[in-house]
Amino acid sequence: MRFSPPLPDRSSKVLVSTVALIPAAGRGERLGAGLPKAFVDLAGHSMLHHAVRGVQASGVVDALVLSVPIDLVEQVQSQFPEVIVVAGGAERSDSVRAALAAAPPSDVVLVHDAARALTPPSLFADVVAAVTAGAPAVVPGLPVVDTIKSVDPAGAVTGTVDRVPLRAVQTPQGFDAAMLGAAYAAAIADFTDDAGLVESQGTPVRVIPGDPMAFKITTPWDLRLATWLLHERASA
Ligand code: CTP
Ligand code: MG
Repeated sequence: MRFSPPLPDRSSKVLVSTVALIPAAGRGERLGAGLPKAFVDLAGHSMLHHAVRGVQASGVVDALVLSVPIDLVEQVQSQFPEVIVVAGGAERSDSVRAALAAAPPSDVVLVHDAARALTPPSLFADVVAAVTAGAPAVVPGLPVVDTIKSVDPAGAVTGTVDRVPLRAVQTPQGFDAAMLGAAYAAAIADFTDDAGLVESQGTPVRVIPGDPMAFKITTPWDLRLATWLLHERASA
């Protein structure tokens, strides 16, 4: 079923309220640090701490909801008394859904991976500005630099993909709040990102320029890179 809800007219409003959801309940299996990834140390603070402070520094977010592993809800709530903390779920989309359910009403919703801990504050502002300007769904994306090949199970190359129209998509992803709520209510499958969900329901998704610093910390290599970048920033 395709879904394209009417969008609210914000033209007469001066202020647009924005809620940011940070899914931080993943296990971090590819990082393999022995604890949930968002709680791994990155130059003296958890990845989650860096992500929260980045969102707050943007100055464009009115409320923040974190979804974390259920046994860490109390601890995280005492660490960040100013935000809403909920238990996440088995899949990322379950964690986003739980955060969305606890979020106060807003015009715009941002969804941002805790694992993109070094995302510059300006990127949040750019995404909110694009949604406020009328795009119902906005994602930051970067051109793909590697040559991309498709490969069969035996390892034989079956083709080379034209990379010109491809973008590697990041977070924060920004949405018209009413549209995202309706999209989650109607969702029947799991998606790796929220833009994928709304896109599958017929909502147009706009890409704006991403930022290399919004890379996702997935592997031990990424963690080394992030640690080095923070130390470089501290000594600049
Ligand atoms: N996430 C979540 N709930 C889940 C799975 C993921 O809140 N059930 C969050 C992660 O904490 C992370 C973001 O979604 O901030 C992106 O997910 P990913 O990078 O895949 O993190 P993990 O799932 O923790 O890592 P892995 O897939 O290697 O286990
Ligand atoms: Mg994962």
